[in-house]
Amino acid sequence: MSRLYTESTHLDLRRPPDSSSAPPAGADAVDERLGSDVAFDGAYERRIRALSSQHWTPVAIAARAARLLTRAGATRILDVGSGAGKFCIVGARATGAAFVGVERRADLVAVARRAALEMGAARATFIHANVEALPFAGFDGFYLYNPFFEHISRHLPLVDRTLERSGRAHRRVVRSIEEKLGALPAPAVVVTYHGFGGQLPPDFSHVGDEPAGNDRLELWIKRP
Ligand SMILES: C[S@@+](CC[C@H](N)C(=O)[O-])C[C@H]1O[C@@H](n2cnc3c(N)ncnc32)[C@H](O)[C@@H]1O
Repeated sequence: MSRLYTESTHLDLRRPPDSSSAPPAGADAVDERLGSDVAFDGAYERRIRALSSQHWTPVAIAARAARLLTRAGATRILDVGSGAGKFCIVGARATGAAFVGVERRADLVAVARRAALEMGAARATFIHANVEALPFAGFDGFYLYNPFFEHISRHLPLVDRTLERSGRAHRRVVRSIEEKLGALPAPAVVVTYHGFGGQLPPDFSHVGDEPAGNDRLELWIKRP
């Protein structure tokens, strides 16, 4: 698969595309946060920070993924398993789209909401739910950073011990994502980082694949 997107990953998150994201105060502090992963993760408490390198999308990759989605036409983007909110917050600062994170761990939803407020990301909002119970209607973009891997990984440090550790649980949630994406009307856009453990439905075309961090960003589009 050729690399279709040649834009550099250089970030300028300091000028949000519309004023609704502009922080009411402390703009310099927000700019600083968005400048690097160390600075961004400094907004989190130590436990959340310690999970970052394994569980949260790096700032530059989040911005790139968000731009791939919006350039392909997505305007309302769901982060499937939003964790501490990093992808949604960076995406809201980097593009003009609306970002909604769905996360099953209530403590992470609270962390994400606090961070979005602190970083002036008004277009990043978060829902506390199991994604299996969330309808995909109304979203035209989806981001998945291998969100269900904790069910089956043997080596990944776990966020906590609340998720069922079994192949059965993993297969069930992956299948629910495949079914929801398959049922979506076109147009719809998906970006994955480290995949999601399943297959995109056949009506999605694989149109982009590029190196990112220690894996790849892949882009699929369902066209009308
Ligand atoms: C690898 S982290 C990615 C976090 C975020 N998307 C990011 O890139 O920074 C995956 C997240 O998915 C969440 N998750 C796993 N299964 C879920 C489910 N069934 N419904 C909602 N969230 C889920 C986990 O709790 C975890 O926070």
